[in-house]
Amino acid sequence: MVRRAIPEPEAFRELTTFMMVYKFGLAEIRTKIDILAEELAHRGSGNPIEHVNPRLKTPASITAKAQRIGCPLTFDDLRGRIRDIAGIRIVCSFVSDVYTVAEMLTRQPDVNLVVTKDYIAKPKANGYRSLHLIVEIPVFLSDQVVAVPVEVQLRTVAMDFWASLEHKIYYKHDATEISAALRAELAAAAEDAARLDQRMEGLHREIHGPRRPSPAYPRE
Ligand code: GTP
Ligand code: MG
Repeated sequence: MVRRAIPEPEAFRELTTFMMVYKFGLAEIRTKIDILAEELAHRGSGNPIEHVNPRLKTPASITAKAQRIGCPLTFDDLRGRIRDIAGIRIVCSFVSDVYTVAEMLTRQPDVNLVVTKDYIAKPKANGYRSLHLIVEIPVFLSDQVVAVPVEVQLRTVAMDFWASLEHKIYYKHDATEISAALRAELAAAAEDAARLDQRMEGLHREIHGPRRPSPAYPRE
């Protein structure tokens, strides 16, 4: 058995300090989403948010990603290069809601939109669809203000259903081991989900009229 010394208490303290701001940044964004959901529901125009799922990367998965992308294991490098330590997934009812919620969030003056990846306008080759944003949110500590990056993934219920199952199907499988036919089948299933989104939004429009006017939203 290899006997290894556990890290010094100081190292634990540093790691906790490093992780803490991401936890706070996530809480700030979470609150903003909760406020939007509750206020929109209260206005009677329907809550466009089905559910919200925040998550913090574990130190183990941060180091694994750092090694994968060739990022040195210093806190400064990790801070600069890994932008998805704090992440939140917002699952919306309809595609137009995805853009409406993204716009409502990013037009807030303390939310700084850093990166947009629109995998709805331009789905990944495997069929994956979602709108990904990296936003920075100020966190007010006792002696400084830190701009904390948070990855926001917005998608519909149908997109979420597909992504969750795709993840399960691929889990612990080398993607290259999966045949072209199976990959095509998965991509076709994503198309089916997208068609279902269109049908459901169409039905909703027939009964309730158009969703909230979809604001102009910058797309890649
Ligand atoms: P990561 O290093 O994995 O964070 O990817 P990236 O920096 O290239 O960013 P990207 O915006 O492409 O993806 C970020 C996250 O979106 C991933 O960590 C997943 O949560 C999700 N995602 C991206 N592509 C897929 C996909 O093909 N299938 C599923 N299920 N999720 C995906
Ligand atoms: Mg990621």
